[in-house]
Amino acid sequence: MRKAETLPAELLLSPSLQQATTLDDVRRDIGDCQRCKLAGGRTNIVFGVGNPNAQLMFVGEGPGRDEDLKAEPFVGRAGQLLTEIITKGMKMRREDVYIANVIKCRPPENRNPEPDEISACQPFLLRQIEIIRPKVIVALGTFAAQTLLGQRTPISRLRGHWYDYRGTKLMPTLHPAYLLRNPADKRLVWEDIKMVLRELESPA
Ligand code: URA
Repeated sequence: MRKAETLPAELLLSPSLQQATTLDDVRRDIGDCQRCKLAGGRTNIVFGVGNPNAQLMFVGEGPGRDEDLKAEPFVGRAGQLLTEIITKGMKMRREDVYIANVIKCRPPENRNPEPDEISACQPFLLRQIEIIRPKVIVALGTFAAQTLLGQRTPISRLRGHWYDYRGTKLMPTLHPAYLLRNPADKRLVWEDIKMVLRELESPA
């Protein structure tokens, strides 16, 4: 298995975040966040949704317009496709998995998040993952995969391979928004998802 290039968690987590033991604690620590310049443009902080004891966690890039308005990740068109992957492809319920993003506030015009915004927000995702302790993380798209893995390798080369992310198995795959533009590549995601399903079904 390939290994993610990660910094020690203690270097990233503030003392109060290290003390957070539930997702509600993490959300309280975020508060009315003003830690980066995305604060000014957001309607809502999009924290994450789903089962706090999920075996499977999806991590996307950041909220778009629909997510910003509803305060829930993946509720727009790309979200509908992700929901179909979960319910029709994996035969699971959306409420049984956990869904979050690297960035919790919508970037203006949906531009890519910038390095200072990522550094401000990443500790919260890290703590969410530590608290949920999923068996498998699926990183959706270039941005989530490269951020979590600490690599600049294109998603086309990352996807389809298992990574060890701080002791948790991580599978990078293509982003649902990309699939909306390139439906022929859905078969690649299905290959990745089948590997995820096999892992979820394997004993411990
Ligand atoms: N794209 C993402 O990466 N995250 C969302 O929450 C919605 C769209």
